Amino acid sequence: MKHVVSKVMPFAVRPMALLDVPQVGQVDREAFPTMWPPPPFKRELDNELAGYLVAFERGVTVPYPPRPEGMSRWLARLRRRSPSEAPLEAEAVDFIVGYAGLWFAWDEAHLTGLGVRTAYQRRGIGELLLAASLDLATRKNSRYMVLETRVSNLGAQALYEKYGFNRNGVRRSYYTDNGEDALVMITEALSLPGYQERLQGLKQAHEEKWGTTEIVLP
Ligand SMILES: CC(C)(COP(=O)(O)OP(=O)(O)OC[C@H]1O[C@@H](n2cnc3c(N)ncnc32)[C@H](O)[C@@H]1OP(=O)(O)O)[C@@H](O)C(=O)NCCC(=O)NCCS
Repeated sequence: MKHVVSKVMPFAVRPMALLDVPQVGQVDREAFPTMWPPPPFKRELDNELAGYLVAFERGVTVPYPPRPEGMSRWLARLRRRSPSEAPLEAEAVDFIVGYAGLWFAWDEAHLTGLGVRTAYQRRGIGELLLAASLDLATRKNSRYMVLETRVSNLGAQALYEKYGFNRNGVRRSYYTDNGEDALVMITEALSLPGYQERLQGLKQAHEEKWGTTEIVLP
């Protein structure tokens, strides 16, 4: 019997676009405050081996270009004094709350980043992005998905274990900020009917908990 869910989740997923890049940078800074430099999101848009998904809040927009913060705000004010610099017309863009980054190489999908704005965590967004990433990897015929996560990141590990990632070794002193070890986690073969059934079951449970949503893949 088909399950019927009447709730609608206020977040949806789609491929990252150029106008999302500054906000994805903000999400990255919030989610990974000690990591520097941030991934080159703009360049990644042209990388044929990369795939980036964003989660956005439906019906909520913010101005683009984003309002500068701190030192950049001061510099922007200074620049506006120059008559040759015409003010940029702001346009309204989706409010980005999270992102997932993937690299596809050979038969492998590598989850290179998964982050959600701090104030939006524990609302099903990270799980939504992970499920969409697994769907994208399946569609691209990746045999499995692999990732690294800090050995201390028990919240992320709980999410990955829920989606069938198994521990597959440790990379010593992998993180440059504090020398922490990384746990390598890997799924079984994505094409196995058992794995796809598990994924469908988890997506259904997510929908029942958080509401229906829309996922657009590249
Ligand atoms: C890890 C992260 C992406 C999870 O996203 P999220 O939107 O907060 O998580 P969700 O609400 O979708 O949680 C889904 C599941 O993940 C697990 N989980 C997530 N955060 C957890 C936490 N702090 N403690 C325990 N389990 C957690 C739970 O199993 C949860 O399922 P449940 O709600 O049924 O218990 C998010 O917390 C984040 O951006 N953290 C900082 C960056 C980071 O660590 N990224 C991962 C790098 S490998």
